[in-house]
Amino acid sequence: MKIIGGPASQLLAARVASELGCELALAEYKRFPDGESYVRVLDEIKDVVIIQSMVSDEDLIYLLQLIDACSEASVRVVIPYFGYARQGRRFQPGEAISAKVMAKTIEADEILTVNIHDTPVLDYFRVKARDLDAAPLIGEHMQSLDLQKPIFIAPDEFAGSLARSVASKLGADYDVLEKKRLSGDQVEIKAKHLDVANRDVIIIDDMISTGGTMSEAIELLRRQKSKDVYVACVHPVLATNAICRLFKAGVKEIIATDTIDRGVGIISVAPLIAGAL
Ligand code: R5P
Repeated sequence: MKIIGGPASQLLAARVASELGCELALAEYKRFPDGESYVRVLDEIKDVVIIQSMVSDEDLIYLLQLIDACSEASVRVVIPYFGYARQGRRFQPGEAISAKVMAKTIEADEILTVNIHDTPVLDYFRVKARDLDAAPLIGEHMQSLDLQKPIFIAPDEFAGSLARSVASKLGADYDVLEKKRLSGDQVEIKAKHLDVANRDVIIIDDMISTGGTMSEAIELLRRQKSKDVYVACVHPVLATNAICRLFKAGVKEIIATDTIDRGVGIISVAPLIAGAL
């Protein structure tokens, strides 16, 4: 078995190959002057695992090209971050179910994702698809920090099970805030009856995109006299000014996995993926 790292997941692919003690196969990626992308697999392959997160539309195109370039081999695909999963259903009449559109284009012998935003999206794939859970790895990392009376907080119901799962690893408390989305990058967060005074708080979500959700939550919890506030997520999308937004709001540290290569991924999901393969 060989591993190919797509352009969005070079580091993670190398880490998975190292975990498994297997060879990396190289591919060349480039763009023509008109913007079209080009892929060529340079090594011989029979049994291959392609690892490519889907943060941008371009990432999906490269993934589809890689799959086609490997069409004579047995191909498994790992999509550590599956973009578009937030649009996994029609919220308003006339909307495209974008996650379905993307999932249906991806054909392989098996597909693996990591903490996909909405698990019913897995059913849109035409082939067997499994989702892996990075919560235990986040929990292990949290155990290594010197947290004072930690409490894990999910910014909304959707992230509640992730907060519960990570908190249970430490035998810590968890709670859920109430979130209302006002626009693409603005949310309103309401407190419940939490007592966070003098406690370290870890706000945990599956992803941080614009940072709107987390920065509102950080400010709210700091007003409630919490001690240090950490944010943790599986997928550090961290679009545009998200990192500075979080630090301006007063975050102590951003803790994330390496499903997206953003330089903040201190927890590697490589052992999780290697174990599943
Ligand atoms: C949505 O339900 C997700 O779990 C995240 O809460 C959301 O995507 C975060 O987005 P942003 O960082 O833009 O507030």
